[in-house]
Amino acid sequence: MMMGYGRFRLYIWISSIMYLAYFSCGFDPGDNYLIDCGSPTNTTVSNRVFVADNLASKFLSTPENVLVNTSANSITSSVDSPFYKTARVFAGTSRYTFPISQSGRHWIRFYFFPFVSGNRNLSLASFSVSTQNNVLLRDFSPNSVTVREFSVNVTSDTLVITFTPSNNSFAYLNALEVVSVPDSLITDDATSINPSGKFQGLLTQALETVARVNMGGPIVSFDNDTLGRTWVPDQSFLGQPNLAKSISKIGSVKYPKGGATPDTAPPTVYGTLTKMASEDDPNSNFNVTWDFNVDQGFRYLLRFHFCDIVSTSASQLYFNVYIDSWNVLPDFDLTSKNFGNLASACYMDFVTVIKDSSKMSVSIGPSSINNNYPDAILNGLEIMKINNSMGSLSGVGSVASSSTGHSKKNVGVIVGVSIGVLVVVIAGIICFLHRRRKVKSHGNSKIWVPLSINGSHTMGNPVLVGKIRPDSLRKFAETAEKCLADFGVDRPPMGDVLWNLEYALQLQEAVLLNDPEENSTNVIGELSPQVNDISNVETTALAQFETSSVDDLSGVSMSRVFSQLVKSEGR
Ligand SMILES: *[C@@H]1O[C@H](CO)[C@@H](O)[C@H](O)[C@H]1NC(C)=O
Ligand SMILES: *[C@@H]1O[C@H](CO)[C@@H](O)[C@H](O)[C@H]1NC(C)=O
Ligand SMILES: *[C@@H]1O[C@H](CO)[C@@H](O)[C@H](O)[C@H]1NC(C)=O
Ligand SMILES: *[C@@H]1O[C@H](CO)[C@@H](O)[C@H](O)[C@H]1NC(C)=O
Ligand SMILES: *[C@@H]1O[C@H](CO)[C@@H](O)[C@H](O)[C@H]1NC(C)=O
Ligand SMILES: *[C@@H]1O[C@H](CO)[C@@H](O)[C@H](O)[C@H]1NC(C)=O
Ligand SMILES: *[C@@H]1O[C@H](CO)[C@@H](O)[C@H](O)[C@H]1NC(C)=O
Ligand SMILES: *[C@@H]1O[C@H](CO)[C@@H](O)[C@H](O)[C@H]1NC(C)=O
Repeated sequence: MMMGYGRFRLYIWISSIMYLAYFSCGFDPGDNYLIDCGSPTNTTVSNRVFVADNLASKFLSTPENVLVNTSANSITSSVDSPFYKTARVFAGTSRYTFPISQSGRHWIRFYFFPFVSGNRNLSLASFSVSTQNNVLLRDFSPNSVTVREFSVNVTSDTLVITFTPSNNSFAYLNALEVVSVPDSLITDDATSINPSGKFQGLLTQALETVARVNMGGPIVSFDNDTLGRTWVPDQSFLGQPNLAKSISKIGSVKYPKGGATPDTAPPTVYGTLTKMASEDDPNSNFNVTWDFNVDQGFRYLLRFHFCDIVSTSASQLYFNVYIDSWNVLPDFDLTSKNFGNLASACYMDFVTVIKDSSKMSVSIGPSSINNNYPDAILNGLEIMKINNSMGSLSGVGSVASSSTGHSKKNVGVIVGVSIGVLVVVIAGIICFLHRRRKVKSHGNSKIWVPLSINGSHTMGNPVLVGKIRPDSLRKFAETAEKCLADFGVDRPPMGDVLWNLEYALQLQEAVLLNDPEENSTNVIGELSPQVNDISNVETTALAQFETSSVDDLSGVSMSRVFSQLVKSEGR
């Protein structure tokens, strides 16, 4: 009897601990770096501690410590407002290197507020942010409170986040999060709508959150989401708000076994929705449409969240869901997807390409099959930009960004050589595209390019080859290869090509600057003849740039590309 009671107490104790653990923390991230940049003290926001700047300095390498603060009360009051009172300024290229204990997807969230502190005006900042594999922001200059959220799959044991001030400018940051994401959140495939079929390979893509919307419901701030996400109301995205009506039944949401979980989206998202504002009118025939700003030339992942909290019995509600003009879920019956269960949370993923528009619309409308009055619903929507073939999420920005102004002459010469090599590669690409447009068969494409890369590096003598960092050469090769993708959208814009080539160049410079022996005049002497050889190739490349039509390589004009190359060479 006593034993039984003791065991029962133990059971109660364990259950309550587990209950508390589950509901107070939800998902327990393996990596969890929260930093309040520039702050002398820890900042606690709900139950999360953003550590003081000095506690994070062990992860940071920066040329100069500049911490700024504001007492301005112009900061809109919101849960994240304490972050915005302080910032760290990066006067030169700076890096955070975080040890990663759990490989897989991680959120990276940046918080910016451009305040004025003494004689420093953060509105004048312009900078780029990248990881080892991806360009996240390019020539970025926030003009109000801004949060940018990315999710990247980290497979190495560190995540390096690099801030690079644009030409003559500086970078800054108010707060930073690097937090593990549950593996199950983003799966590998989705339905591709143009071309229609299956999109595979999401696991390795970097994503940027463009919109995360709670249809028909309130804002869900990051302290009410198990994964620290913020969901915004849909009002401001609605084309014609008078056609929409919201419903809320948060208590009735069920998370089915093996399906959506509170980590997919919280009950406040699934338990509220926007529907057609048609009170029992059998002739209602219109769409409810939301509009979003997007960057052209990128793929987007759209995740629709549904939970039928309006029907009173199964298979009452059939509706259509459109992405732009594509009917992606014709005659959609939620209960058939949920095995006849009403109010079951579910989601569907689609990938679409935005070719030549800066808008994307999502609509819901009635189906012609209807067992009841015409209606259509949507509970939540996430829109995520997928990195382009160069690993970049930034479509904007100038070629001149991040150019490093090394003035050392000898470095200039060696750089000249590597720039020469890259010009050969670019020339190769351009020739190829040029040819392919005239010829139209891609029979020999796979062979032609590797040849040009080999050609360019054997063009130098073995000394030259030895001085090109393998990293750097690999980056050149990757860049060249990506330019040859069969579909235009898979080919990088010229700005990205340049960005990557510059990155390769920086890899190259890094080794030269760190290795005084390689920096010696002796090496320069050996390399000089090659520089002359390659300058002829440049002329050829220039001719190629001018003669090829540039429609495949949108973004940056060829003359700017070339002038940038010449400038980097430091002649
Ligand atoms: C700040 O937070 C860190 C990490 O949670 C903790 O180790 C440290 O003791 C805190 N410092 C203060 C002064 O509370
Ligand atoms: C704000 O900046 C001023 C001047 O740089 C400094 O004296 C002060 O300690 C800072 N305050 C905080 C809270 O960081
Ligand atoms: C800071 O820079 C912005 C953008 O150039 C400008 O609009 C603003 O007036 C500047 N503020 C101050 C106090 O100089
Ligand atoms: C970069 O700075 C140089 C002068 O230092 C200037 O000539 C050039 O126009 C600048 N480029 C951009 C894109 O601002
Ligand atoms: C991350 O990418 C690797 C392949 O590089 C893949 O095996 C792994 O499943 C991915 N992880 C997640 C959580 O997406
Ligand atoms: C968010 O949580 C706070 C308490 O932490 C609560 O008062 C508020 O109603 C919640 N909001 C939503 C949308 O869930
Ligand atoms: C709803 O939008 C789709 C896609 O734009 C369109 O084809 C359809 O005709 C619209 N339906 C109504 C009733 O306006
Ligand atoms: C995203 O970038 C990676 C390299 O980081 C590349 O392998 C992948 O193909 C890119 N995704 C797309 C859709 O181009």
